[in-house]
Amino acid sequence: MNVGIDGLEVWTGKLKLDLPGTFAPAKGEDPGKYTKGLGLYTSSLPDAYEDIVTMAANASKRLLERKEIDPRDIGRIDVATESAFDNSKPVSTYVAGCLDQVFDGEFRHANKGERKFACVSGTQALDDAYNWIQAGRSRGRAALVVATDTALYARDDPGEATQGAGAVAMLVDEDPDLVSLSEAQGIGSVDETDFLKPNQQFPSVDGKRSMQVYLARMREALQDFARNGGDTHPDTFDLVPFHTPFPGMVQKAAALGFRHCVRNTEVETQLEDEIGRQPRRNEFDNRDNYFEAIKSYTKDLRETDTYQGWYARTVEPTLDISREVGNWYTGSVHVARTAGMKAALESDRDLVGSSLLVASYGSGAQAEIHAETVQPGWREEIRQLNIYDQLDSRYSLSFEEYEAIHDVHNHDESTDLEPFTTPTDEFVFDGWGRMGERKYTHVE
Ligand code: COA
Repeated sequence: MNVGIDGLEVWTGKLKLDLPGTFAPAKGEDPGKYTKGLGLYTSSLPDAYEDIVTMAANASKRLLERKEIDPRDIGRIDVATESAFDNSKPVSTYVAGCLDQVFDGEFRHANKGERKFACVSGTQALDDAYNWIQAGRSRGRAALVVATDTALYARDDPGEATQGAGAVAMLVDEDPDLVSLSEAQGIGSVDETDFLKPNQQFPSVDGKRSMQVYLARMREALQDFARNGGDTHPDTFDLVPFHTPFPGMVQKAAALGFRHCVRNTEVETQLEDEIGRQPRRNEFDNRDNYFEAIKSYTKDLRETDTYQGWYARTVEPTLDISREVGNWYTGSVHVARTAGMKAALESDRDLVGSSLLVASYGSGAQAEIHAETVQPGWREEIRQLNIYDQLDSRYSLSFEEYEAIHDVHNHDESTDLEPFTTPTDEFVFDGWGRMGERKYTHVE
């Protein structure tokens, strides 16, 4: 059965923080750390009336309207997030409550849940929907999967540089218009303490460790994917969207992945005259010397035309949105897929039938790799996205305004602030209910 993503919509927070222009000078840092080191230019942040529910519901509304979906044709609503504000009632019920306000018909018989495993849970929710359809339990209905996060860090945490906020809504169905998902899948998963939120809003992060864990779990997932019948030759894929906490992380992961995948292939042989053969562990009597040799080989590999051509074609286009929005946690890899396909559309690349290698990661920690096959309807789907218009119309914050909006979204502060933007035809946060629940309304 051909099952995958039938369509998607991306919704960004309405505010932006200029990282090299506003944030770096206020922190006394070199702007090059952001543009060259992390590869980030602006962060998307939520306005005072926005949160994970409004962004998820707004993305979903656009998607369901555009695809002309009747609520009764949705059999599941799964929300993936690591910014939930309720330990019992899932975010998907709040989102469905919003959608109920504007759609004729209800989502009464849709199975609703919330998925948690740091940033990889968006992909896990896709996987759940895929399995539900493959198991024959969907009765012809589709699943609505939404990845939504306000990726905020405590003020002055190093992670503050990588903040972001937004949602990606995806419709998972049989005979999809956008991409079908492979049966082959690879997992790399180990109990790690690199990033966590034990009953706290802002994460405790060991940033450098989280980068190492990302790379280690990704390599294991790749090995597992190959063992399970997945093709890992780099030339097989037209795009390789990675989980993108910041583009600099993907540059490291892509080089490691490429090196791993070309070992013992004709690509390694072709590169041998230029940079030698890849070091093998059995050629070294200690690990440190081996790691030094691998590091040096990878540095040389990154300089070759072969690597640079592959990277420019398959990875670089997937970073176009991330650079302008920061980390969206659960949505991040889905933003990367969207950016890559949008760039392909704009440069008139024909993707029908081509393969994507999708590499997801969540701290704690787990990487997942699967392949996707682009479907004939992809152009029409991607053409209808307005994410670049949304990015262009964000309000640009001064540093003082950024400090104020960070406080508004800090659960330990009670700050009232006039919104910087005016909502139109969208869901907004509308205060608190009698049991402490958050309330939402749709404004015209
Ligand atoms: N010009 C060019 N590059 C610069 C620079 C400058 N002026 N200043 C710094 N850099 C480079 C650094 O060399 C580094 O690159 P490298 O890793 O290739 O060496 C990069 O910019 C980041 O600088 P660094 O000093 O390491 O930043 P940091 O100590 O503030 O921490 C993170 C960076 C990613 C660890 C931090 O933002 C974080 O904790 N993020 C949240 C967790 C996360 O996203 N983890 C990723 C896996 S999910």
